This record gives sequence, structure tokens and C-alpha cells, in this order.
Amino acid sequence: MRLRSLAFAAIALALPASPAMADGDAARGQKLFTRCSGCHTTTGENKAGPSLAGVFGRAAGKVDGARYSRAMASSNIVWDDVSIDAYLAGPTKFLPGTTMAIGVPNASDRADIIAYLRSLGPG
Ligand code: HEC
Repeated sequence: MRLRSLAFAAIALALPASPAMADGDAARGQKLFTRCSGCHTTTGENKAGPSLAGVFGRAAGKVDGARYSRAMASSNIVWDDVSIDAYLAGPTKFLPGTTMAIGVPNASDRADIIAYLRSLGPG
């Protein structure tokens, strides 16, 4: 009996990963974006990293004038909840050869940042 409820608890803990993504807090994500804004704008201007304006739903490596790694430029990634989450969770693990080295280890921070990026709408 005890073991069974432990198993249920484990499943309950393991599940929230994807529903949490859909429920990110965009306002909090905008604040967390200070972690990104050293290299990214959301206004179309490129810095060390490509502009993230309209990144949601866009194919990776496609911003004019941005400097991309060969890995990114030749990837077939399309940016959505799942791919951005995986990239931010471990950039070089998700895309070996990417020149973006920093990630966001905390899943709920990632969900909030993703909600913020989604709220910017398509480019
Ligand atoms: C130190 C600079 C730096 C920081 C900080 C940084 N990035 Fe990046 N980012 C880059 C670079 C450089 C690339 C291009 C990587 C490549 O081509 O491999 C990139 C690429 C990306 C892409 C793919 C864009 C595209 O056009 O395909 C996304 C999405 C992204 N970053 C999100 C973020 C988010 C969200 C944060 C904040 C949590 C962040 N980045 C923080 C430098 C940075």
C-alpha cells in the first residue's frame, strides 16, 4: 500500500514538466529576460545573439544579419515550447556546436521565459 502511493507520488512529480510549460508567467518571464538581454533583443536588433522578436514558430538560424554557428544554421529546429525548453535546459547538449553556452537550469524559469517569448507573437 505504502509503496503504491509512493509510486503515484513519483509519477505526479514527474508529470508537470509539460503542462507547466503552457502555464508560464509571461510577466515574470519578462523580468527573467534580463538574463538574455545582454546578448538578445526582442526588437529586431541583433547583438551577440540573434533578435528573439518573433522567435516563436520560427525556424532556427534564420535572422538576417545574425551570426550563427554552423550547427544552428544547419539544424532543422523550429522554435516552440518544447524545443526552446530543451535548448535552454542544456544548449550544448541539445545542439552540440552551438555558440550559446548559458542555459536556464530551472524548469519554472524556463516556462516563464517561454511564455514571455510567446507573448511577443510571430515576427
Ligand atoms: C552570452 C550571450 C547569450 C546569452 C546570455 C543568451 N544567448 Fe541565446 N544565443 C546566443 C547566441 C550567440 C546564439 C546563436 C547560437 C548559435 O548560432 O549556435 C543564441 C541563440 C538563441 C536562440 C535561437 C535563435 C534563432 O534565431 O535560432 C534562442 C531561442 C535563444 N538564444 C534564447 C536565449 C534565451 C531565452 C536566453 C536567456 C535565458 C539567452 N538566449 C541567453 C547568445 C546568448
